[in-house]
Amino acid sequence: MAIKPEILKKIEQLDAKYASIGQDLESYLDGLLYSNPLHYWDYIKVDALMSLQQPRTDFPDEQIFIVYHQITELYFHLTLHELEQLANNGRHITPEGQDKGWFDKLDPQLFVERIKRINRYFEALTHSFDIMRTGMDKDQFLRFRMALLPASGFQAASYRRIEIACTDIKYLVHHTKRDQFWDKSIKDQMMHIYWRQGATIEETGEKALTLKHFEEKYMDEFIELAESYQHKNLWQKFLQFSEEDRQNPELKEQLRMLDVNVNINWPLVHYKTAARYMAREESDVPATGGTNWQKYLPPRFQKRIFFPELWSDEEKAEWGKAWVDQTVFNHKW
Ligand code: HEM
Repeated sequence: MAIKPEILKKIEQLDAKYASIGQDLESYLDGLLYSNPLHYWDYIKVDALMSLQQPRTDFPDEQIFIVYHQITELYFHLTLHELEQLANNGRHITPEGQDKGWFDKLDPQLFVERIKRINRYFEALTHSFDIMRTGMDKDQFLRFRMALLPASGFQAASYRRIEIACTDIKYLVHHTKRDQFWDKSIKDQMMHIYWRQGATIEETGEKALTLKHFEEKYMDEFIELAESYQHKNLWQKFLQFSEEDRQNPELKEQLRMLDVNVNINWPLVHYKTAARYMAREESDVPATGGTNWQKYLPPRFQKRIFFPELWSDEEKAEWGKAWVDQTVFNHKW
């Protein structure tokens, strides 16, 4: 049987591909001959995925709590996947030294498209948060959470990585210290990042245990990441466009949307969820992470804004109040 010219062409291309990394095509063709067809369940790792939920109690709703956290982690993972590509202008160097980047250069249109992706991820998370807010039995939640002490979503490192990849650390310094640390080193600024100040025990002012554990595990990594993103975080990437490109209304709009999604809408629905389970009339239920969550979590208290220069003074003053959302983006939460 004659081999079709298209197939011969492919073989030539494959030969060139393997020769370029010093490998022999024939051995790889042998591998192809012997390998089994791919199955969905193997590729998606379904069995492994279903083995990752390991409740610590017998309350059935703990399963919902674990799965939803895992779903959120995967969306955070997708967000970081986009942020990393943007930071590196799409370049991805393989261990063999080949650039397997998907885009040649970072133009404003591509930038907009990728930020839209991230916005969609956070919108999906915000909309689905009702799975947590109303989708668990309150009595079960208040019991199984006691078996999870002192772990807390506060320790979600991907969430902190997203912040670091989005903006300059000076904008993440606790708002009461921002002026003081404006010109300091990244390391000094990281020591005053807003969440370090938040996770304290109200009565004593001491660091909550959840924060101590979190810092022990991740602080060095975060400082290193912040240093490496100093000139390539999303805000810096935006500043590197020409003056004209920066005036592109869609670009600004998507960045502002991202600020609202990550720093208002998700935190707000998350806070409302904490309030549904943990607010009591006489006194609030203590958080598993031990923070004074009522004063720490609301976005209007945190005032964390990735791109402050894209907001007016009035909008910043109203940050996290329903005004920004309803007036600027016509959303209702
Ligand atoms: C019933 C559901 C939930 C409740 C009651 C809840 C409660 C809380 C509370 C009280 C805090 C403050 C820190 C502490 O003392 O523990 C917190 C922080 C946090 N939680 Fe949740 N949470 C819930 C679901 C989630 C989910 C699904 C995620 C997704 C990963 C998550 C991620 C976070 C993050 C990232 C923080 C830190 C927020 C910040 O620093 O501004 N939480 N949560």
